[in-house]
Amino acid sequence: MKITDIKAREILDSRGNPTLEVSMMNDKGQSVVFGVPSGASTGEKEALERRDGDINRYNGMGVKNCVDEIENNLKEGLMRIPLGDQSEFDGALATFDPSEKKEKLGANTMLGLSGAYLKLSALSSGQKLWQYISEISKSGPSLPRIYANLINGGKHAPGLDIQEVMVVPKETRPSVAVEQIVSFRRELAKKLSEEYGESSLLIGDEGGFVPQNARHAKVLAIFSSIEGDFEIALDVAASSFYENGKYHFEGKDVTAEELGGWYQANSNNILSVEDPFEEHDSESFANLASNASFFVIGDDLTVTSATLIDEFATKSAISGVIIKPNQIGTISETLAAVAAAQASDVKIIVSHRSGETNDDFIADLACGIGAFGIKIGAPVRGERVAKYNRLLQIEKEGL
Ligand code: PGA
Ligand code: ZN
Repeated sequence: MKITDIKAREILDSRGNPTLEVSMMNDKGQSVVFGVPSGASTGEKEALERRDGDINRYNGMGVKNCVDEIENNLKEGLMRIPLGDQSEFDGALATFDPSEKKEKLGANTMLGLSGAYLKLSALSSGQKLWQYISEISKSGPSLPRIYANLINGGKHAPGLDIQEVMVVPKETRPSVAVEQIVSFRRELAKKLSEEYGESSLLIGDEGGFVPQNARHAKVLAIFSSIEGDFEIALDVAASSFYENGKYHFEGKDVTAEELGGWYQANSNNILSVEDPFEEHDSESFANLASNASFFVIGDDLTVTSATLIDEFATKSAISGVIIKPNQIGTISETLAAVAAAQASDVKIIVSHRSGETNDDFIADLACGIGAFGIKIGAPVRGERVAKYNRLLQIEKEGL
């Protein structure tokens, strides 16, 4: 089947910043739309977003150049590629920009096209998106554990130094887990407003609450005081409070060793800790991973790169990785990162970004590759709820 048209446009993400949306049509008159997300606590090694830089529009963050690039330069050649051959399509994209960090096209341009092509190939094949992803990634599909981010801090909200405190039900059926998350959140709201006042119930970029002047250990104790069959996960995003060799944590400058000691002392019911140290300190990751009862997850450390995942898994610096397609660019490179993680037997957690659209693609991605987990924020805000609701649909589709 053939591509008959490609269109691109500038839309808004959940922070009110411009982002790219790509639609693609086939010769049966079917069409798909892919919305590109955008991070705030980005890793230094991530592929780059292309932005216009014209400060008279959206403070320089416009993506009109990406739209022009697609519609005037890339579209014609890409439309000649038949649907159903992801590596050929992504290979063609790579010829337009072979640079490691996608400086020319931008990872946003590449993912918009690559993601729309994947969706249209799946639709043309008559398969559900998660089934098609399972087939091309040669993975057994399964339902992931939901990582529900209920407290926002770091670069996503004023409040805690740790960026995310998540509840993770043990149950993977969304029809059960989603209700558990919603009732956990209701109970958490009650306890937070008693402890920190009602203003703690305002929400951050990923829909989590934002208690002010709270101690991290106290917040963890509140989580643990709520009944239910779940574990707790942290995304520390430690690069965001690291400066001059020290971590600025709870008003003090602490060393990597001291911070590692804090994780160990607060490990009760902790399932995983993401980016516990800044993104160049893989040695501290390895020290923690060799002693911890929880999984040590790389995000800024590994940036969805097959090479880096392979390197840090071999060094035993990680026992799990975050997979975010826009950190690397194309779907093929994302699936290569997944394959690297599967080969090293580290846990895979597919993740949204803090700046999101209503696109629910990552739910199909996580299910299709049989990921251990999926990070989709709190069960509020349309752009987060879209992913929850897609998981509920996928279960009904028979997974
Ligand atoms: P980001 O945050 O999308 O702002 O990078 C998410 C994360 O660090 O996991
Ligand atoms: Zn992270």
